[in-house]
Amino acid sequence: IGVFVRRIAVVGTGYVGLTTGACLASLGHRVVCADVDRAKVTRLRAGRVDILEPGLAELVAEGIAAGRLRFVLGAAAAVADAEVVFLCVPTPMGAGGAADLAAVESVIHEVRGLLPEGCVVVTKSTVPVGTAARLGALLDRDDVAVASNPEFLREGSAVQDFLNPDRIVVGSDSQDAAERVAALYARLGAPTVISDAASAEMVKYAANCFLAMKLSYVNAVAELCELLGANVADVTEGMGYDRRIGQAFLAPGPGWGGSCLPKDTSAMLQVADAVGFDFGLLRATIDANARQRARMVAKVREAVGGSLVGARVGVLGVTFKAGTNDLRDSPALAVAELLAAEGAELHAYDPGVDPTVEMSGINLVEDAYQAVRDAAATVLLTEWPVFRGLDWARVAELMAGDAVVDTRNHLDPEALSRAGLSWHGVGAAPVH
Ligand code: UGA
Repeated sequence: IGVFVRRIAVVGTGYVGLTTGACLASLGHRVVCADVDRAKVTRLRAGRVDILEPGLAELVAEGIAAGRLRFVLGAAAAVADAEVVFLCVPTPMGAGGAADLAAVESVIHEVRGLLPEGCVVVTKSTVPVGTAARLGALLDRDDVAVASNPEFLREGSAVQDFLNPDRIVVGSDSQDAAERVAALYARLGAPTVISDAASAEMVKYAANCFLAMKLSYVNAVAELCELLGANVADVTEGMGYDRRIGQAFLAPGPGWGGSCLPKDTSAMLQVADAVGFDFGLLRATIDANARQRARMVAKVREAVGGSLVGARVGVLGVTFKAGTNDLRDSPALAVAELLAAEGAELHAYDPGVDPTVEMSGINLVEDAYQAVRDAAATVLLTEWPVFRGLDWARVAELMAGDAVVDTRNHLDPEALSRAGLSWHGVGAAPVH
């Protein structure tokens, strides 16, 4: 396939930026990645990757060795001969739930006079609908186009998701610019949607909000299963074979979290409010998620006999999902903090988190067995595979009580039962 090799600048080397840069380099492009963190740039030049992302360190090393991937300090140093500039800086939740665009705007100010004629500035960060237009106005350059190219990477499988995308979405008010950006991905052979900028920006929010809604729905169905005596695993399997629904994203849990879904649902609600649209469905999705966390706390409270005051609880997992070391907006951490606030004494283990890290109200320990020692109840909050293989007889011996609250339905109830423990899952009857 005739693929043009492009000169690309990527501003921001978080998990989105670094994955984008390293993967585009692996597709043959010449990529310069910029960050404002001097120490991080130095580490990256030496091929050292801090983010726990399978395959990423290898791709970075390959890109550097092949001379296709470089790291520089500051956006200004990266854009001078770029044909495409990707903005991958954070857009955190700001005042009132809206996305905070300060980082994006400051990059635009820094580079606007330096961009070569004919280049395309692409937002990869999740930005509110209308941002491309606003950045175009800020840039105020007739010879530079702005495009939106949302990413759909999941933490923990970002490289895999980048190289095997379900789709590529590029939006720009310049059709030619959109096509040039889409062409960067031609080798991936993915379905490609080319649209105006606002629609591409909307795709990202609409998709993440839909995923959040799917999970809040499943969590509500799970609660109803408990009340009606049904088993949610059978229910979701039966639902999921319907191709219009699909099996993915149907696992109940302690609520959805991470650096994206909470931020994007709030931002979408804010955007809707701003134009006078009452997005009740989305508000209910967010409210249900807060309730879900509280419901998990109630399960643990019940497991220790009605009061958490002074109760020792073993916590398995604090990251927002397995396979990452990310604690941002982690439902697991939120549940643990709620338990601590009710007076529980927590001993927590997470394979992705350094046990020397200080956490208020939570004592991190070095392995799962230390976490469960003398516990009145154990609660699994993150679905790390190693937890399935624990020696349950040993756990039973170490614990003071016998209840294991499995907020992810991740464990084998029979294995726990054989060891004399009782399993309390979500959307299913307890197994004693
Ligand atoms: C999410 C989206 O899945 C990506 O498509 C998107 O690109 C990304 O946000 C983003 O906007 O950057 P991510 O935040 O990495 O990706 O995490 P997910 O794997 O989607 O999980 C989100 C939350 O839902 C986690 O708390 C997870 O535990 C929970 N979850 C997920 C469930 O409770 N049940 C499931 O079946 C799936």
